[in-house]
Amino acid sequence: MAADTIHKFGFIVHCRSTKELRLALGFYKQNPAALLPEKALKQYCLNKGFIKDIFTFDKVISDKGVVCQGKAFCIFLTPDQFLEHQTYSTELVVKASKMAEAWGAEMIGLGAICAVVGARGVEVADNCTSAVTTGNSLTVYASVIQFEKIMQRLAVDPLKHKIVIIGFPGSIGLALTKILYQKGHKLVLVSRQKTAFLKKFLESLSAGSGEIEVTQDVESAIQKGRIILTATSSGQIIDQDMLLPGSVVFDIAQPKDVIYRRDARKDVLIVDAGLISLPRSTKKRYRYSGLGPNDIPSCLGETMTLTLEKRWERFSIGRELDLDKVQEIGRLSEGHGFVFDDFRTFQKPISTENFEATKKAIHKAV
Ligand SMILES: NC(=O)c1ccc[n+]([C@@H]2O[C@H](COP(=O)([O-])OP(=O)(O)OC[C@H]3O[C@@H](n4cnc5c(N)ncnc54)[C@H](OP(=O)(O)O)[C@@H]3O)[C@@H](O)[C@H]2O)c1
Repeated sequence: MAADTIHKFGFIVHCRSTKELRLALGFYKQNPAALLPEKALKQYCLNKGFIKDIFTFDKVISDKGVVCQGKAFCIFLTPDQFLEHQTYSTELVVKASKMAEAWGAEMIGLGAICAVVGARGVEVADNCTSAVTTGNSLTVYASVIQFEKIMQRLAVDPLKHKIVIIGFPGSIGLALTKILYQKGHKLVLVSRQKTAFLKKFLESLSAGSGEIEVTQDVESAIQKGRIILTATSSGQIIDQDMLLPGSVVFDIAQPKDVIYRRDARKDVLIVDAGLISLPRSTKKRYRYSGLGPNDIPSCLGETMTLTLEKRWERFSIGRELDLDKVQEIGRLSEGHGFVFDDFRTFQKPISTENFEATKKAIHKAV
């Protein structure tokens, strides 16, 4: 290839809800089945296994002047269908990846639950000729940076608080736990199951300076701490009414773990964690997946960064992420100019009123 070849990536995603499934079928396929009742609609999509390229980034320009190009390919299934039919959904992710390869992609990123099925990217990587990543390393990096910056802005010392991590021992939850434990934080882990892995993990922690308690129950955990990082694969598990005043939730999950409501509480802050922005050198305004101008999920940011770097390797695959790679991809992404601190709540800028009311409440509580 010529030195100035623009390299391409593919990003594999799925519909995040039945509403999105209906919209996708109507908009991209003009298919009257979009009007079917929910159960019949989902069964129809399951039978058909539709995949469609739905979005093109034709020119992402990094602050170093490097350019890449990519397309998002959407599988018309919902997250619960992905988790219920894991073998089939993995096959569809492989098929979508091959469509991306046929278009010219050399790097494949797996979005949301596409990164969970198939042994967290392993089976897809085994069946593709191009490089595959879940993008979870940059997601962890972005979440930690965002956690630290929001704490600074709230003038809160997180070492004085219990930090709740929901979604343990998932790929993201596990890496966050290791990093925050090493930094000396007091952690409350929510793990649905008491597994041998959990026991082994807790035994391996003796070298760190943090403290860890484990619970199986989300509701009791978020009564123990006001700073919460959540990354489950279920989504929609936290009702805002369950939160203590002054709670700050870093909601990494896709679909979101915190349930949206129009009359959102002002005394709690729900941060769209893992959300980053394209480098400012990218002048064109992309509106990806209903997000703000040039906002993207960090798993997509990792896919772009690896493409800009021509790093054709399995970067983040499997449950246990390499913490050195988390730091490395963060450095590389920052070097290309991706933006990590343009904070959002439910895809909108955080209001001063929301920020100040949360700040007052968390300081009052300590
Ligand atoms: N914001 C971003 O840019 C971004 C980027 C990448 C991924 N994500 C999202 O991050 C989330 C986690 O991804 P991952 O790769 O870490 O997934 P994962 O490895 O499957 O981990 C998910 C964890 O959540 C736990 N869990 C599921 N439902 C739960 C519930 N109701 N209560 C408590 N724990 C529950 C699972 O428990 P079990 O072990 O018992 O099954 C598992 O340990 C997903 O929603 C993904 O889409 C976001």
